[in-house]
Amino acid sequence: MNMFRRQAARPLRRQAPAAQRPEPQLKSPREIQIMREAGRIVARVHAALREAIRPGVSTWDLDQLAVETMGKYNAASCFLGYRGYPANICTSINEELVHGIPNKDRILKEGDIISIDVGVRYRGFIGDSAWTYAVGEISPAAQELMRVTEQGLFAGIEVAYAGNRVVDVSRAVQRFVEEQHMHIVREYTGHGVGRQMHEAPQVLNYVSNDPDGQTLLRPGLVIALEPMVQLGTWQTKTLKDNWTVISKDRSLAAHFEHTIAITNNGPEILTLP
Ligand code: MF3
Ligand code: CO
Repeated sequence: MNMFRRQAARPLRRQAPAAQRPEPQLKSPREIQIMREAGRIVARVHAALREAIRPGVSTWDLDQLAVETMGKYNAASCFLGYRGYPANICTSINEELVHGIPNKDRILKEGDIISIDVGVRYRGFIGDSAWTYAVGEISPAAQELMRVTEQGLFAGIEVAYAGNRVVDVSRAVQRFVEEQHMHIVREYTGHGVGRQMHEAPQVLNYVSNDPDGQTLLRPGLVIALEPMVQLGTWQTKTLKDNWTVISKDRSLAAHFEHTIAITNNGPEILTLP
């Protein structure tokens, strides 16, 4: 079994005894200010990608555009080299859920949906955000999937208040998505984020007895919330490249992610322009 699958859009970590579970690293207001800037750069990269997406463009072209845009703002990809990941962003088309590798031969066509995950490091801190985009006209089913996944993300953000627990966020996401009869992926999760891309707590998109679900949300906690939703099943499999994760039944998949700081005034989305 691939190690990566056990740990990090983040493979589900097995329940560890309390003593081995890392404590969340709370961020100071100064650190959050840097994370706000990192998040804004991620949003600018997404804005550039959104403009470029059209039939005929390769996922390699998108990777190049992303890295150029990061460079313009003195940021760098935090995916490149992560556990040997060979590109700057992840580009996952249609039944591909996460971790698709940009490739010159992979050309977007009318009707595709493409999930793009962008993570940067800026002045020592990470911003992490994913979005699913339509390529031209897409099917009503694909539109529904995108709507439900995006709104599922916001259903979670809405309850990300100090005093609630991580599991309250997980529950809100799961409820919203399952009410629409779609499937929340269970094998990958959101995560704390800061100097490292993956910090405690693990942030599931469904209710479970995961001890990290009991983590209290409090000012200074920064998390990446990232529901991954599929039309036909919650199950996934990994392709032979050892990276690309697809839905097991090859139904369409979508992924929306924001980096969110818990503040005294409620949740603040850091990965906005
Ligand atoms: N948003 C993803 C995550 O939280 C990105 C990881 S892609 C990788 O894990 F290439 F860096 F692995
Ligand atoms: Co993430």
